[in-house]
Amino acid sequence: MAKIIAVTNQKGGVAKTTTCNALISGLSRMGYKVLGIDLDPQGSLGFSLGINIEEGITLYDVFKGKATITDAIRPIDCGHFIPSNILLSTAELEFNHSGREFLLTEAIKDIKNIYDYIVIDTPPALNILTVNAYVCADHLIIPMIPEILSLLGISQIKDTIENVKRYYNPKLDLTCILLTKYNKRASLTKEVCDMTEAIASQLGTRVADTVIRNSVAVAEAPAHGLGLLDYAPKSNACVDYYNFIKELIQGGL
Ligand SMILES: Nc1ncnc2c1ncn2[C@@H]1O[C@H](COP(=O)(O)OP(=O)(O)OP(=O)(O)O)[C@@H](O)[C@H]1O
Ligand SMILES: [Mg+2]
Repeated sequence: MAKIIAVTNQKGGVAKTTTCNALISGLSRMGYKVLGIDLDPQGSLGFSLGINIEEGITLYDVFKGKATITDAIRPIDCGHFIPSNILLSTAELEFNHSGREFLLTEAIKDIKNIYDYIVIDTPPALNILTVNAYVCADHLIIPMIPEILSLLGISQIKDTIENVKRYYNPKLDLTCILLTKYNKRASLTKEVCDMTEAIASQLGTRVADTVIRNSVAVAEAPAHGLGLLDYAPKSNACVDYYNFIKELIQGGL
């Protein structure tokens, strides 16, 4: 049965999609069978993996009951992928029936046993799509940029995670906070370290030992439609992501 990892933070631009891409390509390079799922109507993860997200069946069609989950799966270099595009942005209004928190859980229930890992990207919001990811996931990873302003305002995500755990998914494990886009020149100040540790303890989790450094290759990779760890495995960020995946696996994930 697949372990399901969702990458989440309601803040934009903190490297959620980049982290999903790295997890998908890294786990696949390690020999695991991986399915990526994009729950973000921006569709960036599919695009960065070289998929034409404007054509073909997407997760929206599955949620609408117009296609089966198997029809929505696309082969990629590093496994399988289910894309989304802007159509999914109507989810909040369109899917207003009871049980709408379980759309994704229901959709993937028959394919879970095919994979070792399922990696879910989420939008920069706390909405029904994010809740669907939390309801379905075993593990949550929260990327954060190690800058004071970027670290502010986590109470909302804390409430959402607590509600999901209370009502829908008690086994949800908030695995770690991952510091990303780390710039060596702006060293990790004591204030940032203290604040990140404080956030982790408020959320009842830990800060990953591995920190992901800034790399130009990360910005270049999406244009090539390749998994990040296939495109530039020697770049600082990819070395860090590889170490992060090893840290996760050693930690029991
Ligand atoms: N380690 C890194 N080094 C350099 N640039 C990075 C790194 N990680 C992410 N970026 C860049 O930061 C930007 C935001 O990254 P990404 O799209 O992964 O964030 P996100 O949290 O998914 O954003 P959104 O909230 O809009 O979905 C992108 O341009 C990406 O290329
Ligand atoms: Mg994103």
